[in-house]
Amino acid sequence: MLTEQAADAFASLTGKAPEGVWTAPGRINLIGEHTDYNDGFVLPFALPHAAYLAASQRTDGRWRLRSVDLDDTVELGPDDLVPGSPGWHSYLAGVVWALRQAGHDVAGADLVLTSDVPLGAGLSSSAAIECAALAALADLNGLEIEPLDRAKLARVAENAYVGAPTGLLDQAASTLCVADHALFLDCRSFEHQQVPLAVGAAGLEILVIDTRTRHSHVDGEYAARRASCEEACRLLGVPALRDVTDLDAALAQLPELIGRRTRHVVTEDQRVLDAMTALAEDDYAELGRLMTASHASMRDDYEITEASVDLAVETALAAGALGARMTGGGFGGCVLALVAADRVEETSAAVAQAFADAGHEAPVTFLARPSDGARRLR
Ligand code: GLA
Repeated sequence: MLTEQAADAFASLTGKAPEGVWTAPGRINLIGEHTDYNDGFVLPFALPHAAYLAASQRTDGRWRLRSVDLDDTVELGPDDLVPGSPGWHSYLAGVVWALRQAGHDVAGADLVLTSDVPLGAGLSSSAAIECAALAALADLNGLEIEPLDRAKLARVAENAYVGAPTGLLDQAASTLCVADHALFLDCRSFEHQQVPLAVGAAGLEILVIDTRTRHSHVDGEYAARRASCEEACRLLGVPALRDVTDLDAALAQLPELIGRRTRHVVTEDQRVLDAMTALAEDDYAELGRLMTASHASMRDDYEITEASVDLAVETALAAGALGARMTGGGFGGCVLALVAADRVEETSAAVAQAFADAGHEAPVTFLARPSDGARRLR
């Protein structure tokens, strides 16, 4: 449906059908949070929620960018591609800029965007736009760019143009994921593996609870966590926290706060590897235990959760979830819970009641089905 919506909006803007429609999804990270920029491991899967981009080339070397959802159109020439430019269109313009920086010829284009990835919910709404733009512009310009390199270029747009100092997790998930699988990614070697994620066969569902808590200072806190990790590496004399092999010895050398940040990252890397083993053995009780331990580590050591997120996790667990954790950058956003299929409604209702009792805004819940990554739809 959003494919038609993007194509129709394109026709209204230009008077013609688009050359094509491309899509790229948001993501949930099953486990492995704040490990990506520490050269560690992540295990995301793609959501059915996605950005859709209807696009055609233009001959005048300009880019006309339209958001259907915001009802806003912006037109840019080459001189307008300036890193740090604010606005929704920076996610599209940033991709044009990143491709050109990498030496690719990118002709002008009309790009019309719509998306159903919730904004600011920690589900990678921005990476979905960037990865859809990368797919569209690569095809329109006949650029042969490997999927992993597409993800890296989309990250350049996010880091250098939009200005958010993130790792590769979101763009890799949005580009590389395959339906019914999670993506295991080693963020140092970039080796990756599709891991079957068939929780349904075990009578389980992945319930997503969007707490609808959004924090405006996320970027500052995110950068502060990165800085703590870099400081830890400097004090320990290692290239990345991935290289810490003796955690106790490392903790003995670090100030208390930086030690706790380090402990989160090092133990989280191990939990991703343990989750891989649990999945290989269909041991969902163990997977759930690892998810809950990951949440405790984010809450106590990395200090990136907040009250509504913790409440969602505690309530889901009390309602019988095998495990639950916040996903994404933190300070609000979404929780995922591994729940028996016949307890989904009860669990959702328990969380809604707990939120009402605590005076939080009502949460939104949905089931997450691992979906396909970026691709051309027509
Ligand atoms: C955000 C960033 C990712 C990653 C996560 C935390 O989603 O964009 O690169 O660091 O936070 O795991």
